[in-house]
Amino acid sequence: MESLLEGCARRELDRFYERLPSLPSSERPALLLGMGYNFEFYDALFPLAAGRVQCSMDAGQYSRRYRAMQSLMRPFCSEFGIEAGRPLLRTHRELFAEFYLAATGSPHPEHYPDGDANPWLAASRRWARAMEERTARLGAPSLDRAKFNLGYLWAVERLSIDEFNAMRKAWNSAGVRADYLDAHCAVEAEHAAASRQAVDVFCSVSDPQVVEAVRAHEADLAGYYADLSALLLTFV
Ligand SMILES: [Fe+2]
Repeated sequence: MESLLEGCARRELDRFYERLPSLPSSERPALLLGMGYNFEFYDALFPLAAGRVQCSMDAGQYSRRYRAMQSLMRPFCSEFGIEAGRPLLRTHRELFAEFYLAATGSPHPEHYPDGDANPWLAASRRWARAMEERTARLGAPSLDRAKFNLGYLWAVERLSIDEFNAMRKAWNSAGVRADYLDAHCAVEAEHAAASRQAVDVFCSVSDPQVVEAVRAHEADLAGYYADLSALLLTFV
């Protein structure tokens, strides 16, 4: 499945995180509110994708479906501090708010502002809408939609490993340490394994829907980070 990745997202996110430590600290609140929107969006993408897998029940096989659902729910639950066999942990959103406070000195706002005045938030909103529309697969047969969403989620999780490692390194070198960054680096490999298992039990990594989805998310993530890098260059 790794071989489906071409490397464009990795290149773009490395390019962005290498330059991030030189961003003026006055720009951190706007940047982190915008990037936090993107990270929070994945908390919506997971249940949407799970619903699309479950809604293939008129076309797919019963046992493949419940096994895939169990595997793909694990990374989603983990985002909310729910890990099998462990006491309830703090949610990743709460950890992100703590990270925001450490990096900016201000509490995380309770609302994302309307409008496009914050360019980081505007870019994150634009790409969130694109990913939501991409995975909706309107008009596609329900089984194809389910396979596409499983492949897309695997790519989200697999690329998160590289993303959070680069992100932690960049913020640490800017003097910011946070449990949010460490928690993500600790769980992303497990998330990728669980979402890979969901693909394996439901269909196959070589299914054309899965292949197309992996490439689609890699291109989406590369596009998002290319936009962020273009913005970053206006500040450094
Ligand atoms: Fe994850």
